[in-house]
Amino acid sequence: MDNIIVIYKSKYGSTKRYAQYLSKKLNCNLLEESKVNKDTLDKYNTIIYGGGIYAGRINGLRTIINNYENIKYKNVIVYTVGITNPNDKKTYDDLIKRNFTEDMITKIQVFNLLGDINYSKLNFFNKIMMYALIGFIKKKDESKRTDDDKKILESYGKSLILFNEKSIKPIINHIKTL
Ligand SMILES: Cc1cc2nc3c(=O)[nH]c(=O)nc-3n(C[C@H](O)[C@H](O)[C@H](O)COP(=O)(O)O)c2cc1C
Repeated sequence: MDNIIVIYKSKYGSTKRYAQYLSKKLNCNLLEESKVNKDTLDKYNTIIYGGGIYAGRINGLRTIINNYENIKYKNVIVYTVGITNPNDKKTYDDLIKRNFTEDMITKIQVFNLLGDINYSKLNFFNKIMMYALIGFIKKKDESKRTDDDKKILESYGKSLILFNEKSIKPIINHIKTL
């Protein structure tokens, strides 16, 4: 299990906390996405990237995408952090298709973890984004609202604590098989 790096981009902390747990468990290096370049990636055989989900996009994933040609024969693992239930297959299938190319989908192992949201801590731009999302959900016919739509509506303006350090276990188990 040598030669592993955990890279993350986190706005409000959940992705960073998972990255810290992972690097501790795997006893490997940890780096914030903005500090990563091609030379950094060249040094590692296994690259774990973590990014929060914002409006269906994985935050900071461009580092993996832009360097993909150089890293595609390495072990690349991506974990996403969001408030959508990881068992919601349709949402995550769509997310994967939206964020990765077909080649990446066959080669990158993706794990989906739950993260926190605290409305009082959101920056102005993110508050506007959530306001727009709430408006969109409210316009939907009630019978067409998903469980996650309902959860987002119920929790709007409050805080949701969904972070669970135990949910990194499948990632650790996967790394052990490499
Ligand atoms: C503006 C905004 C948009 C979001 N969009 C999504 C989304 O599309 N899907 C999702 O599951 N979670 C979404 N979230 C929840 C975040 O992914 C969640 O808060 C996560 O913990 C963020 O991780 P980070 O703080 O490490 O960046 C959104 C949060 C904000 C503030």
